[in-house]
Amino acid sequence: GRQWRGVIEEYRHRLDIPGSTPTITLGEGGTPLVRSGWLSGLLGADVHLKVEGDNPTGSFKDRGMTVALSVAVGEGAEAVVCASTGNTSASMAAYAARAGVKPLVLVPQGKIAAGKLAQAIIHGAQVIMVRGNFDDCLRLSRGLAEDYPVALVNSVNPMRLQGQKTASFEIVDALGDAPDVHVLPTGNAGNVSAYWLGYREAADAGDATRRPVMRGWQAWGAAPLVDGAPVAAPETLASAIRIGNPASWDLAVEAAEQSGGMFRKVTDDQILAAQRELASRDGVFVEPASAAGVAGLLLEQAEGADVSGRTVVVTVTGHGLKDVDTALSTFTDVVDTVVDADVDAAAAAAGLR
Ligand code: F0G
Repeated sequence: GRQWRGVIEEYRHRLDIPGSTPTITLGEGGTPLVRSGWLSGLLGADVHLKVEGDNPTGSFKDRGMTVALSVAVGEGAEAVVCASTGNTSASMAAYAARAGVKPLVLVPQGKIAAGKLAQAIIHGAQVIMVRGNFDDCLRLSRGLAEDYPVALVNSVNPMRLQGQKTASFEIVDALGDAPDVHVLPTGNAGNVSAYWLGYREAADAGDATRRPVMRGWQAWGAAPLVDGAPVAAPETLASAIRIGNPASWDLAVEAAEQSGGMFRKVTDDQILAAQRELASRDGVFVEPASAAGVAGLLLEQAEGADVSGRTVVVTVTGHGLKDVDTALSTFTDVVDTVVDADVDAAAAAAGLR
């Protein structure tokens, strides 16, 4: 077999990018579509997880970043900037390192997971901590890109969506058609917009006979698309989606309307419970925000919704190792067991005899 070449080389003919664009890649995309035995059994449906934590920097952002960085470099950029709740900055820093351009990131002070901050720093980014939230950081990033020679690579840059839409192509390829329903966490709303773009193009190209219903899940304290208005002070433990004023608002609403879908919200407790169940039942460890879609499926199951017999794909957006602090903080009931280095002692402590 041949090696996966990354989303630009695999899908160049389907990307709306300049023909002269170079390829700056870490081999992103080609992520596994893993059937969830647990969710399939519970819902009587065929439920698959698109495991985007398996991308090179541990989140779906790499799909968009390979394209955004490649196009920026093709256009002569020497520095790139982004606002981030953590994953975008980790990804941008890695691709910028590879491209040899200067990465500048703006993040909300004290509100991004340690793993993501470590990634940005070790890849050589200049990290600026902002007294404010993600929405403030995005406003600053736009301002810097307007006034100074730095290219903005947030998802307001349409090249990001070009890259991220390839996840839909991979799902259609793996299933042989589009699913009935697609579920995913939603923050700045770039990803739901990109998936919808990808599914529409797959149907137009004749690769899929249908387009899925798009269902986006937000965190309770940061649910502008559900509440119908920007949230001035968004709050959630799922720091990746702690966003009050999504940049891709109109595209996201369009995706929901055109697909017959909608946006809904789950509480932090529901998110953490879903994260833990997904890890312990399916063996898939995702960061809290990434479990919002699974939490949504569980909520609707409890409400009596019926998806039996349907094909459902849930995108789990980022790797659990990004944010071990939050994962461990939920395990206050797990007590450390310490024994002497002795088989009998270990067996006794483990309840084996
Ligand atoms: N899941 C994870 C793990 C994320 O990092 C993000 C967004 C989302 C879901 C939501 O995706 O914004 O396209 O609706 N993270 C951005 C960042 C905001 O800066 O890393 P979205």
